[in-house]
Amino acid sequence: MFEELLSFIKSTYHNKEDIHLHEPVFFENEKNYTYECIKDSMVSSIGKFVDRFELEVSTYLGAKYAIATVNGTSALHISLILSGVNRGDEVLTQSLTFVGTCNPIIYIGAFPVFIDVDRDTLGLSPSKLNEFLSENCEVRDDGYCWNINTNRIIKSCIPTHVNGFPNRIDEIISICSSYNIRVIEDAAEALGSKYKNNFVGTFGNINAFSFNGNKIITTGGGGMIVTNDETVARKAKHLTTQAKKKHKWEFMHDSIGYNYRLPNINAALGCAQLENINLILKNKKIIADEYRAILEKLNINFVTGIDNTQPNYWLNTIVLNHEKEKEVLLNLSYKKNIFLRPLWVPLHELRMYKNYQKDEMLNTIWLYQHCISLPSSFREY
Ligand SMILES: Cc1ncc(COP(=O)(O)O)c(C=O)c1O
Repeated sequence: MFEELLSFIKSTYHNKEDIHLHEPVFFENEKNYTYECIKDSMVSSIGKFVDRFELEVSTYLGAKYAIATVNGTSALHISLILSGVNRGDEVLTQSLTFVGTCNPIIYIGAFPVFIDVDRDTLGLSPSKLNEFLSENCEVRDDGYCWNINTNRIIKSCIPTHVNGFPNRIDEIISICSSYNIRVIEDAAEALGSKYKNNFVGTFGNINAFSFNGNKIITTGGGGMIVTNDETVARKAKHLTTQAKKKHKWEFMHDSIGYNYRLPNINAALGCAQLENINLILKNKKIIADEYRAILEKLNINFVTGIDNTQPNYWLNTIVLNHEKEKEVLLNLSYKKNIFLRPLWVPLHELRMYKNYQKDEMLNTIWLYQHCISLPSSFREY
């Protein structure tokens, strides 16, 4: 069964020697736009492509504002700051996510609290979230949600759209808003995915994307903060550019800012990539349909996404029947230079994160034991 799946993957990717999980794909204008930056000596913090990339991403998503950053982790860091998270506050998030979701919580000196995920979305579970909040938290007279066990304020919640599969974002937002908790969508992997006909990464108060080399489109390294709130957008731009006040020659800074602005040459790459987002999504849907057919034939379960969603199929993901099959399949695939990938070791099992508060994590652990992501790069014809 696994042999057949691996042969299918080999032939899908034209029997290439090494088949990686997700490789970038480039078209014509990546060369043209980046060459233009080099020719004009506009490779760094000044140049037209940053504004253009921000405008094009916000237009594509149907959001009011987009602020480009050096990566998705920095986009999340700034989003947390602008959600009012301070040292000593708590932030709810999932343990089944990339470490870049959670590290910014620590950068601020806040405390992550891990909530379990749903098995069908791989994303933060609204029912587990509700359970945690109703059993452990109360909104006090100051309007804040207090964790009664730790006597800390829960300011924010970061749910991830894992592998491009939308989580139940509207339910998460409705629960969080009744506790006065601000939602930051981690849409790092989910550009182009839709929930109830709207793009994910536009539902939260503030949202973050990544354009790392392995993502659906890339700027080499890069990220984006997306919001409909003008004040947040203005502050995000200010904080990501060293909090420098506008002046012809003076270097005047009015707070501690960050050097998180995306360089022009990276934004140039992003503009060219975004021109082909629909083509990329279409190509990936075809691959997902082909995977679906072979997996059904081989009786292998896979993540489909839930009703009313349109995943971007960034990474197709199978769900094994038995935990012990994981090692077998990974060993077999690596021998053939097909680089399948398990989900991340759950964060609550990492040394740095094992002492933070968490719920039972039953689905998180189960999914980690049973899921494997399949190579899903754009396929050249
Ligand atoms: C779910 C998730 N969150 C956050 C990040 C962080 O993005 P970056 O690598 O661009 O910092 C990534 C990507 O790598 C990710 O997959």
